[in-house]
Amino acid sequence: MSTWGMIKTVFFTGLTVVFFFIIWIKNPFAPHHEYELPEEAEKIVFDPKAAEEGRELFKQNCASCHSLRYDGIYLMSVTAKPEWEKIEKTQGKPIIEEKDGKIHIRGYFVPRDVYEAVAISDLLGLKASFGKIPPDLSTYYLARGPGYLYQFIMDPQKILPGTTMPKLFFPEFDKEAPEKVAKIVAYMRSVNEPPPGEKAKRTLMGVATIGYFILMGALLWIYRKKIVSQMH
Ligand code: HEC
Repeated sequence: MSTWGMIKTVFFTGLTVVFFFIIWIKNPFAPHHEYELPEEAEKIVFDPKAAEEGRELFKQNCASCHSLRYDGIYLMSVTAKPEWEKIEKTQGKPIIEEKDGKIHIRGYFVPRDVYEAVAISDLLGLKASFGKIPPDLSTYYLARGPGYLYQFIMDPQKILPGTTMPKLFFPEFDKEAPEKVAKIVAYMRSVNEPPPGEKAKRTLMGVATIGYFILMGALLWIYRKKIVSQMH
């Protein structure tokens, strides 16, 4: 290989390595970590069992203002409406869950327009009280990351000065408050986390895709070499 060819090879290999380093290790698109997540909370956030308890805590503490449609959680005032059950079953898609080897329906995913049509007066009521409609929290874990969510739920004013979201947990009075908040974050994480089987499939697909590009690159390179040699 000529010196120039060598330089080019080293340059493009280096570029590829830097690219994958940025995407995989120093991903600028991943949730940032400026918000501290205490060690005890971190253990809970990444524990799938805590997520189950977190779901109940979410229903009790958050569903008066927030929905989480991806997991079939809607405003309490909406689910209390007599027509809701029928709407869920006719317009929604069941969210299936396997628990202790048995399959059961965890909830229903109702399309956004259908939900908002039923919930409109409740949503506007919240807007009148809080200045804006409390957002649906389906994708907030991805958008904000665990540290932000933990800190925000513990003390909304500290993280988002001027927010109308009330502080709901008081460690001064409730020793379990930090644990409860961590469980809620664990739950919000679990909604955005594909189940283990699905995750393995996606990893495999990622590897196969990259493998395909490497193989195609190599084949093209060999082909190009052949053509170039024919031209001489
Ligand atoms: C009494 C109503 C109310 C309750 C209860 C409530 N929230 Fe909120 N929440 C709000 C409002 C209003 C906003 C919008 C605040 C804003 O943007 O200033 C909000 C915003 C949020 C946000 C978005 C913050 C951001 O960065 O934009 C998150 C996350 C959140 N709430 C989580 C929760 C969780 C988790 C619970 C239950 C533990 C909860 N909330 C309970 C009213 C509520």
